[in-house]
Amino acid sequence: MPAMSTVESFDYVVFGATGDLTMRKLLPALYHRFRDKQIPSDSRIIGAARSQLSDDDYRGRADKALRRFVKADALDDALITQFLGMVFYASVNGAEAESSWDNLLRLFGDEVRDRIRVFYLATSPELYGPICANLSAQGLVTEAARIVLEKPIGHDLDSARRINDEVGRFFDEKKIFRIDHYLGKETVQNLIALRFANPVFERIWSADAIDHVQITAAETVGVEGRGDYYDNSGALRDMIQNHLLQVMCLVAMEPPGSLEADDLRNEKLKVLRALKPITEADVAHVAVRGQYGRGQVGHEIVPAYLEELGEGRQSDTETFIAIKAEVHSWRWGKVPFYLRSGKRLPAKVSEIVVQFRETPWSIFPTRLEANRLIIRLQPEEGIQLSVMNKVPGGDGMNLRPANIDVSFEQAFGARYPDAYERLLMDTVRGDPVLFMRRDEVEAAWTWVEPILKAWKTQPGTLHHYSAGTWGPEAARTLIRSTGHGWHEQTS
Ligand code: BG6
Repeated sequence: MPAMSTVESFDYVVFGATGDLTMRKLLPALYHRFRDKQIPSDSRIIGAARSQLSDDDYRGRADKALRRFVKADALDDALITQFLGMVFYASVNGAEAESSWDNLLRLFGDEVRDRIRVFYLATSPELYGPICANLSAQGLVTEAARIVLEKPIGHDLDSARRINDEVGRFFDEKKIFRIDHYLGKETVQNLIALRFANPVFERIWSADAIDHVQITAAETVGVEGRGDYYDNSGALRDMIQNHLLQVMCLVAMEPPGSLEADDLRNEKLKVLRALKPITEADVAHVAVRGQYGRGQVGHEIVPAYLEELGEGRQSDTETFIAIKAEVHSWRWGKVPFYLRSGKRLPAKVSEIVVQFRETPWSIFPTRLEANRLIIRLQPEEGIQLSVMNKVPGGDGMNLRPANIDVSFEQAFGARYPDAYERLLMDTVRGDPVLFMRRDEVEAAWTWVEPILKAWKTQPGTLHHYSAGTWGPEAARTLIRSTGHGWHEQTS
């Protein structure tokens, strides 16, 4: 593994400290980086939430979370005790300018005034503005302060703009880190290396050679106790507006001038702005939404989405979406990008499939399969390129596809750090390269919004699928015109 440089000592304040994201992702990520000696031991992690808890109560919760969400081979009792020594808690109602802020202020005397301080907002986005206003009113926004905003930023374009305005009143754009954790995944960063360090790909990376691209993020889990959040969100807001569009940008963008944050973000923004607008009238032809019913995932019979929400609940929130996007640019012409994401599908897999065009003419008796490049983002990270080969033996020229297969685990033998590990350290270092700029977030909402609007007025367009299947039949119909199907993951 390349060496990790130790960051400067910091104070990391997490609002929403008792929530699922903090327990499942943020604390384990910080623990891993502490274990890898990247975090100096005089740093502090300060949980902030409304519950009345003592430091020790919160340490107890953090301890449980680490034992549940960190893999056994990385757990070490002595290290956990040391880590928990860095953890503190402040009971704060972040949205209200009331006296509970004293609980946080008591931790910030003059002696830590110049230290890096990061405020991570893992709360409902409606609270981002009020929390920032209060941080400022309480004098907590110092020169070395920065703010981290979890996605989703808002629930539509207007609310995203409002939140960005509100936060922007107290923090300079350079101090705002909008997280999209897909950008922190090693394999997503590797897209930049794959494309721009290997001319063999870049030469054929266009409509000349590429028939279409599929980007899938499939999950086996349901809404996992996050029903209230999810039901107001749905797969389009939860996965497409951010994660899948960001991945698509990295696949479709032009070579950036450098790896500097703004060079990269400018190129991503151009892709978002070049997306063919989807009008409300188009939606039925280019987007399919579905909701899972009861079914079998692996060996388990799982309840329907509506049952998971709770008795008697009705909802037309989509837990599956497939959508056809087009990047209107010289490079991409009419190449479709099919984006697909869903819960309760048969496998947990995120991947990009680049389907190349067929040979213009064939001299072989056997049918040729066009080359296909599969970039596995997770799990079993790696790259597969299917190529046609002569089957050895026999007296004819029989061909069959076989894969050139690179497993990153075999090639590099390294643990794949969780995306949040890298991103949290980047916020401490103040490195914005893997974060979304305001204009990117707003451009993504601009594209998504007509779809949201159309669905509101077309309730009949919600398809149903059984848990454990690859979504509604209509998703297969959507891609059929390419002459190919979705690349289904069968492992
Ligand atoms: C989150 C979504 O952003 O990403 C979740 O809110 C989803 O609903 C998760 O489960 C998927 O992330 P990953 O890294 O497991 O693909």
